[in-house]
Parts: sequence; structure tokens; C-alpha cells
Amino acid sequence: MAINNWYKDKVFYQIWPRSFKDGNGDGMGDLYGVYEKLDYIKSLGCDGIWFSPLYPSPGIDCGYDISDYMNIAEEFGGMDAFKKVLDGAHERGMKVIMDLVVNHTSDQHEWFQKSRRRIEPYTDYYIWRPAKPNGKLPNNWDSLFEGKAWAWDEVRGEYYMHLFAIQQADLNMDNPLVREEVKKILRFWLDMGVDGFREDVITFISKPEGLPDDKLMPASKGIFMFNHGPHLHEYLEEFHRDVFSKYDCMTLAESPLVTPKKALEYIDENNNPVLDMFIQFETQEADSFMTDYYHMPFNLRKLKRSYTKWQEKLDGKGWNMLYIENHDHPRMVSRYGSERFQKESGKMLAVSYLFQKGTPFIYQGQEIGMTNWYPSDPEMYEDVQTRWQYFNVATKKSPEKRLKRLWDGSRDSARTPVQWSAEENAGFTTGTPWFYINENYKDINVADQEKDENSVLNFYRRAIKLRKELSSVKNGNYKEHGKMSSSFYTYSREDDREKLLIVCSFTEKTKKWSVPAGFDLASAELLLSNYDKLDGTTLKPYETRVYRWTK
Ligand code: NOJ
Repeated sequence: MAINNWYKDKVFYQIWPRSFKDGNGDGMGDLYGVYEKLDYIKSLGCDGIWFSPLYPSPGIDCGYDISDYMNIAEEFGGMDAFKKVLDGAHERGMKVIMDLVVNHTSDQHEWFQKSRRRIEPYTDYYIWRPAKPNGKLPNNWDSLFEGKAWAWDEVRGEYYMHLFAIQQADLNMDNPLVREEVKKILRFWLDMGVDGFREDVITFISKPEGLPDDKLMPASKGIFMFNHGPHLHEYLEEFHRDVFSKYDCMTLAESPLVTPKKALEYIDENNNPVLDMFIQFETQEADSFMTDYYHMPFNLRKLKRSYTKWQEKLDGKGWNMLYIENHDHPRMVSRYGSERFQKESGKMLAVSYLFQKGTPFIYQGQEIGMTNWYPSDPEMYEDVQTRWQYFNVATKKSPEKRLKRLWDGSRDSARTPVQWSAEENAGFTTGTPWFYINENYKDINVADQEKDENSVLNFYRRAIKLRKELSSVKNGNYKEHGKMSSSFYTYSREDDREKLLIVCSFTEKTKKWSVPAGFDLASAELLLSNYDKLDGTTLKPYETRVYRWTK
């Protein structure tokens, strides 16, 4: 657990290494590029970095298929480049957290290679099952990425479980030797000076005894069986007891479908917490059903219900992790905001979450309001999950409709390289980029926004600075107002020194806002807004304002 809960004062920046910045001209983002940009990240007001996986990997799932946990991939610059970045970040007062991906490994990992050959002690490192006499799979669970959750291994003559891609084999966490391996990995990085971990789908690591069929879920079978499994708490407690409690580090657990009640079983500060924070998915689901792939019209009330629920339910007990974007979801300006009002909605979206209680994370490119990518051909997609959905899932929809679905739902929509300038390849690389650059880089890029006081980038800087200065943002009371509105999200924060009122318009229309009772705007100080001129309580498209009353 982090001493003094230092993570509560931080603003994190997420780096998805392949697309952040190429420093050696080979077309792939790397740690040389990160080193060049440390001051930039710091200049945003961010004082923490989360690295998506940097480890050696065949790259089937862009690094989430790890083949060596205690090393840094050569393509990212290897261990020397990492240590330089780690020191550079620490010198600037920034924390660094790594991605811990231990629900599964790559099938190229030495453990898997030995396990499939039954070489001890690796025989039971994975979840192996023989074929059933009736030719059926060991159970009816689905993989979240590719077909069923089982793949046949010719070498061993058995099936292994893969909840994600076929080349991502699930570890058998019930084997104490596997848990010891996890602890070794944790100690290795913590001893090097890393400040914590974002734990990839960590709530999937304990599978139920006997791996029973899922008899309830019509789609995506299994998720309710293996999410928050029977020994999850016990294993997390063990990692906490044996490793985390001995370091000044933070832990952030990724968990699809987690509710505040469930989260508190692990993060309640008054009840022996085994984790610090959760990445919840609910706030991503205001325009989709369970996954981004099942896209629906954006519903602000759904989003607000979720924001408020997490703010209220964790209050005084657990700590929220706040985010609107990461590498697994399409860009927010294109979803909850508007590309037509890219600048306005990019700024409004920042305010919608940066003044809530919790630790905010900003995903690379979000700070300039990057938008979705619209390839003309499905073959241009790289992401394993996206490709499976398009090429393997039978549907009667036309190819055009299916392509449109990818535009709205694919993870690749947010994985194009960061747009650093209007120069060739958006200034991302001097070589040939590993992936497509969003065509709008001449209009949306860091260099131009640096020069513009009114840019989304400089707005983020102001908002983060304010967030750090305002006492009520850290610990003040949160209250939502005008819950029934489907145009405005209004919330207040209050402590014994000040009261804030925050309004965010989520509509392209100019509309009258009803100021909540008890807030007299005439005596308020306007701290932040995204329009030069205000028109009373009539809000322009995607307008946002932050007001303060000092006590
Ligand atoms: C969640 C990660 O964020 C995602 O990118 C990855 O594909 C899956 N877990 C599997 O590791």
C-alpha cells in the first residue's frame, strides 16, 4: 500500500508505447521517444505514468501477450532505455507504474513451452484439460477475443484455456508455484524502483472449481463464472501480504463488470484493503451494451448515473480511479463529445471528470482531443479482437454497416500514433510508422496547440493545475444536480473552505441551464470555461464552466 496514499494527489498519464513517440526512427514508438517527452508530460501537470506493457512479446495483442516478464522489449529500447526513463521520471517527481498481465502469458513464454511438454515444474502452470469422449470442449465458455475459450495443443494432446487470443494461454493461479512466480515478478520491478502496477483483468485469475459450464449467459458465456472467482480475494491478499505491503507502491485493478459494492470488498480503507483502486467499465458504457462493439446512441443520463454512483458509494471508504479514455476504447470526442465541436467538447470532457474525487488518468492524445480513426478497408485493422469480430463473427449486416461498427467500436480507433505536429507522419517518426496516422493530424496536433492559448492542450493544463490547487476537489463532498437533464451534467464539490459548481453541456444545441437552488452565480468566481463570452445561463454547444465560492 502506498505510504501516505501518495496516489491520491497524482494525475497519471497513460502511455501505450507503440504509438506514443518513436525516438530511433524505426517507425515504432519506444522509450527513447518517451524520454524525449518526459518534460512534456510533466508540463501537463501529470506526475505519474502508467506504461502499457513494455515487455518482450510476440505482439499478438500488442504486448498483452508477454513472453518474458523480467525484461524490456528490444523494440522499445531494452532495459537500459527503461532505467533511464524511470530515473528521468523520478528526477521530475513522477511515479511510474507498470502493467502486470498475469491472467495469461504468451504461448511463446518459456513456461508454456515447457508446460506443453510436461516438463516439471511447469506441467500445471496452465489450465489444461483432456478432450471429452463425446468430442466436446472442456466447457462452454467463450474467449473474449477469439471464438471459444479452448485451443487444442498438438504437442501435449490436450486443450488449454485462453480467455483472450488463442496465443494468450491462461495461467493456473491455483498452483502455488505460479503465485510464487508472480511475486518474483513484482519484487523484480519494485526493487528496481517502479512505484506500482495496473493489474490487467486481475479479477479473472481465479476460475471456479471444476470449470462448470455457464448455463445462464446467452452471449459471452463464462464471464460471470470466472470474474471475481472463488479464490480471488485470497490470492490478492497473498500478493499484498507477501509483496505489496513491503513497498511504498500502489495497485490499480482492472475489472470488467465491477460494481462499487464488489470493489469495496477489495479497496475499503477501513477494512484491510488488498488493492488501492479499480478501473471500472461502467462509465464507458453510456453508448454501448457491455462492450464497445455493441454500439448505441449516447445516453448522458446513463453516464451520470454511473459517475454519481461511484462517487457516492466509495465516499469515505475507497478511492476512485477516474478516466475517460484508454487503449481499449474509441476516442471520447468522437463518442460522448462531437467531432464538429472537437475543441469545445474536448475541453468539456476534461472538466466532466477532472473535478471528481479520485485519481485521474489521461490517455496519450486525449489532451489534444484526438478523435477516432476511419479506415476505408477492414484489412487495415491490426487489433486481434477487432479482426476476429469482422472476419469471423457471422452476421447478416452489409460490409458497410460492419465497417461502420468497427469505426465506432474498435480499439484501433484510439491506437493511432500521437499527433505531435503537422509535419510528415504527424512528427511521430522519421521512419515508416508501424500503424496508420489519423488523417486529421494537420488540424489536431501538439505543436499547433502549444502555440494556441485556447487549445485543448492548454485547457487541460489549466484544468489540472486548478484541480491540484482546489482543496475541495481532493476531499470535498460530491453532489450531482439536475439528474433528469439529458443535456447537462452538473455537479458540486464542497469542503469547509470552498464550494465549486461544475456544469458540462453534452449537446450541440444552445440551451438554457437551470442553476441549482442555493448557488448564486452573481457572487461566484468563474475559474474555468471553454468559451470567451458567456451568455448568462444559456450554454453554447458543449460549453463547460467551473464556478467557485470561497467561504
Ligand atoms: C485488458 C487490456 O487492457 C487489453 O488491452 C488486453 O487486450 C486484455 N486485457 C488482455 O490482456
